[in-house]
Amino acid sequence: MDTLLIKKADIAKVLGMQSCIDAVEEAFRLYGQKKVQMPIMGYMSFDNYNGDMRSMSAYIPDFPIAGTKASTVHPDNPNRQMPTLMATIILIDPSNGFPLAIIDGTYITSMRTGAAGGVAVKYLANEKIDTIGFIGAGAQARSLLDAMFVVRPKIKNVKVYDIREPRAQEFEKYCREKYNVEVQLEGRIADAVTGCQIVNTSTASRQPLFDKTVVSPGTHFNAIGADAEGKQELSPSILRDAVLVIDDWLEASHTGEINVPVHMGELKREDINADLGEIVTGQKKGRQSEDDITVFDSAGLAFQDIVTAWKVYNLILKNEEIKSQLHKINFAE
Ligand SMILES: NC(=O)c1ccc[n+]([C@@H]2O[C@H](COP(=O)([O-])OP(=O)(O)OC[C@H]3O[C@@H](n4cnc5c(N)ncnc54)[C@H](O)[C@@H]3O)[C@@H](O)[C@H]2O)c1
Repeated sequence: MDTLLIKKADIAKVLGMQSCIDAVEEAFRLYGQKKVQMPIMGYMSFDNYNGDMRSMSAYIPDFPIAGTKASTVHPDNPNRQMPTLMATIILIDPSNGFPLAIIDGTYITSMRTGAAGGVAVKYLANEKIDTIGFIGAGAQARSLLDAMFVVRPKIKNVKVYDIREPRAQEFEKYCREKYNVEVQLEGRIADAVTGCQIVNTSTASRQPLFDKTVVSPGTHFNAIGADAEGKQELSPSILRDAVLVIDDWLEASHTGEINVPVHMGELKREDINADLGEIVTGQKKGRQSEDDITVFDSAGLAFQDIVTAWKVYNLILKNEEIKSQLHKINFAE
């Protein structure tokens, strides 16, 4: 039996954002119904290299599929012309343990991260969205942008701020060419927040990026960047007053947007309104009024990776042309 080796170009040929959002939404639904096994993420810090590594596993019996992802985050990598985040996924047949595929996890991580932001917007943001903002214009920002246009296709304006201006310019080009909308490059973070109905933050920041006073009523935040202890993008005062939705308490309180305020005693478990699975399954309510501020804290969960990789694997099995050209490896040889 062969294990498939699936690279980014193959994934890009079969996986669109709409189908990724559908898969990730279904996985959040199953998680909300307690039908997913997911041990807490393993984490190691490469202190000398300003980097880290995580190992993340999940088992979704309904499909049935299991798998694990090894991923690294090195915020200095853009200076080396390398991605900040790199990852590899092994997809496992839970019935016999066979490794079905080894899949590029870098692209899947971006897709599933954008998709989770899309699911959060679908359930938590206001319906009428004209203007969206981005703080941080890297890899995750692009997939978040794609997801925003799937769930709120009538967006007219995009504002962006990045501490590295060339990155904001590349994002602007991508956005204009793909969606033909107005893009404003902002010189100050606050200007990329005020007046937006959705704001996506995806930086490696370790301190709040802006103050509550610049937030317009009704804004939905996707807080994506914090995925390790000590990382933080939003001010605790925004989190405390918002309808606060996390992806998972154990992961979010260790590594997500809430990790710093929870450890500082500035935020308590009672301040969390729901997790996204509870919102998707209708067990809990999100936004109550047009003026509510809503926040989705995405620490990033293993089942998002596994469900996305499973989707890709199945799409590739159905595509004879791509399947026949794939590299395969027989580990038993
Ligand atoms: N929650 C999740 O599921 C998830 C998934 C993937 C990545 N992440 C995290 O998201 C963050 C971004 O990942 P990426 O792959 O897009 O990285 P990236 O390096 O491609 O992009 C990050 C961008 O943020 C900019 N930036 C850094 N500090 C900033 C600041 N203070 N203000 C404005 N811009 C700033 C950088 O210049 C860069 O362009 C990382 O912290 C990563 O660990 C989270």
